Amino acid sequence: MASSLDAHLESQCGNDPLKRQVGTTIRNLATAAVKLRNKITAGGEGLGQAKGGTNAGGDVQKELDVVADKIFMEAAEASPLAFFGSEEQDDAVLLKPDAGLAMAIDPLDGSSNIETDVTIGTIFSILPVEEEHRADPSKVFRQKGSRQLGAGFFVYGPQLLLVMSMGNGTHVFIFSPGFGGFVELNASIAIADKANEFAINASNYRHWDQPIRSYIDDLLAGSEGPRERDFNMRWVGSLVADCYRILLRGGIFLYPGDGRKNYAKGRLRLVYEANPVAFCVENAGGRATDGTTPILDIEPEGLHDRTPLVFGSGREVERVARYIADPS
Ligand code: AHG
Ligand code: MN
Ligand code: MN
Ligand code: MN
Repeated sequence: MASSLDAHLESQCGNDPLKRQVGTTIRNLATAAVKLRNKITAGGEGLGQAKGGTNAGGDVQKELDVVADKIFMEAAEASPLAFFGSEEQDDAVLLKPDAGLAMAIDPLDGSSNIETDVTIGTIFSILPVEEEHRADPSKVFRQKGSRQLGAGFFVYGPQLLLVMSMGNGTHVFIFSPGFGGFVELNASIAIADKANEFAINASNYRHWDQPIRSYIDDLLAGSEGPRERDFNMRWVGSLVADCYRILLRGGIFLYPGDGRKNYAKGRLRLVYEANPVAFCVENAGGRATDGTTPILDIEPEGLHDRTPLVFGSGREVERVARYIADPS
C-alpha cells in the first residue's frame, strides 16, 4: 500500500519540533482542501460570481476566492502559526503570537477558470518566524523563498492532488476516497531536463521585452528555426495546473514582466505563488527565476509583491537567461 501523507510527514519531520509543526500545518491544510474540493464539486451557482470587490493586488474577488480564504484561515487558526498572509486579505493576520511558523497562501489559484470547470488550486508557503518578526511583523513575509520550511499546492482537477516539498524532494499525493485520505502517487518527482512544451499567455506578446519575444519566436519557428525541432504550447491559466504538468513531463512556463502599469513586474505574486512553486520545482531538479535571478534568492518588498516568473526544465530556463543576457 502506497504510503499515506501522514506516514510521509512522519518520515520527513522525525523528532524535529519545528518540522513537526510544519507537518501538522500541512495535515490541516489537506483536510481543508478536501472540504473546499467538496464545495467545488457540489457546485451551487455563484461560486464563480464576482463578489463586487477587488483584493489588495487589484484582482476581482470571486465568491470562491472568499470561501476558500475562510476555509484555509480556519485551518491556519488550528495550526501552530503566528502569521497568516493571504492573497485575499490586504494585511497579514496575527494568529498565535508565540508560534514558530508563518504561512502565506493563495487560497484559490486560477479564479478566472472557476465557472468554466477548468482545473484550479490552492498554493501555500510555510516560513519560520524569528524574534525580529514578532517585533516587526511587516518583515515576516519579506523573507527570501530559500527560507521556506515547506511549500506546495493542491490541484482541484479530475484528481484531487497535493504536490509538496519540505526541502527533501518533491512528492505528489492523490486523495483516495476509499483510503479516506491522501496516498503517495509519485515519490520524489523529477522534472525532465528537456522541454518539449512551453506555457505563456501569448496574447501579451506586444507587451514583452525583445529577448522574451525572440525566445518565443524561436520556439514558434520550430524545426524551421534555430531550435531545429518543434514545440507544443499549453496555457491553462491556472498556475497549479501548468506547474503540475511541467513537473510531470517537463516544459517551461513564463509570465514575464510587461509594459502594462500594474504588470511591470509580471502578474504572479512572489510570496504565495512564485516562491512555493519555485521551492517545489527546484526540489524536483528544475529551475525557477525571474528571467535571470533565482526566485528563491529574491527578497520580497511585501506580501503582495509581484515578480516575473520563468520555471521548468533546467536547461530551458537557463536558455531564457542567455537570451536576456545577450539579446543580439
Ligand atoms: P489567481 O487566480 O490566484 O489570481 O492566479 C491567477 C494567475 C495564475 O494562476 C495563472 O498562471 C495566471 O494568473 C494567468 O494569468 P492570465 O489570466 O493573465 O493568463
Ligand atoms: Mn486572484
Ligand atoms: Mn494564483
Ligand atoms: Mn488566487
